[in-house]
Amino acid sequence: MAISVCPDCSGSGWKIVESDELSGAERCHCQFEGRAERNEEAAGIPPLYRNASFDNFSTKRAHRELAQAMTTVKGFVREFPNAEHPGLLLMGDPGTGKTHLAVAAFRELLKRGFEGLFFDYQNLLTRIRSSFDGMAGVSDREAYRSALDCEILLLDDLGAHRVTEFVEDTVTSILTHRCNHRKPLIATTNLGDVETTRRGEGEAKVDYRLSLTDRLGMRARSRLFEMCKVVKMPLVEDYRLGSWSRH
Ligand SMILES: Nc1ncnc2c1ncn2[C@@H]1O[C@H](COP(=O)(O)OP(=O)(O)OP(=O)(O)O)[C@@H](O)[C@H]1O
Ligand SMILES: [Mg+2]
Ligand SMILES: [Zn+2]
Repeated sequence: MAISVCPDCSGSGWKIVESDELSGAERCHCQFEGRAERNEEAAGIPPLYRNASFDNFSTKRAHRELAQAMTTVKGFVREFPNAEHPGLLLMGDPGTGKTHLAVAAFRELLKRGFEGLFFDYQNLLTRIRSSFDGMAGVSDREAYRSALDCEILLLDDLGAHRVTEFVEDTVTSILTHRCNHRKPLIATTNLGDVETTRRGEGEAKVDYRLSLTDRLGMRARSRLFEMCKVVKMPLVEDYRLGSWSRH
C-alpha cells in the first residue's frame, strides 16, 4: 500500500500560518484525522469488551436501577474532565456490567481525543512486581510509569489480589499520584465498602464481605473515594449466567 503524504504539510505535521503581523506554525489537520481510532487501538481494551457501548448495554434485568447507573456514568462522560471528581468507580457483584459500562465510558472519551490505557489490576501488579525484581522486559518496566502518568487510566477489577505490603504500597502510590495531579481514573471492583445499616434504634456497622480497605489499605481507599464519582451497581443476576434472558 502506498503511503500518502499529506499535501498540506508534506508530511511534517506542521503548517505555517501567516496573519498580518505574525507568522507561526500550527498542527496540520492531518494530525487529528484518525486520532480517535489510534487512541482506541493503543488503549489495550481486551477483545471481549472492544465493542462495549452504552447502546448495547441492556437495562432489561432491572430497568430503573440499571438505567440510573448508566445515566450516572454518562454524566461522568458529559462533564469530563471534572476537576473535583476526575475519577469514576463502579462497584458491584460479578457480572453486573461494571467493566462493560467502564469501557463504554472510556471509549467515548477516546473518541473525543483523550488517550488512555486499560489495565487489568492483577496483571498490572504482576508486571510491576516483576519489574522490581529486575526480571522484566521493557514493556513491564514501563507499566508502572504508564499507570502513573497516562491521560486516563482504566483499572479493571481493583482489589482482586491478595494483600501484601507490596500491593498496598503500589496501589497507594498510583492512586495518590493520580489523585494529587487530578489525573482521571476509571475503576471497577467487586469489593464492597463498609456499610452502615440501621436496625431498630441501634446502629450496627456490618462489614458483610471483604472490603476495599481490607484489600487496598485505608490510604488507597481514601484517595479513591476522594477523587471518584461512585456508582453502585444494583443487585442483578450475573449477566454471564444468562438465565434472565430466557424468561
Ligand atoms: N446490561 C448489560 N447489557 C449487555 N451486556 C452486558 C450487560 N451486563 C453485562 N454484560 C455483558 O456480560 C459480560 C459480563 O459483564 P461485565 O464483565 O461488565 O461484568 P462485571 O460486573 O465487570 O463482572 P466482574 O466483577 O466479574 O468483573 C460482558 O460480556 C458484558 O458485555
Ligand atoms: Mg469486570
Ligand atoms: Zn498534514
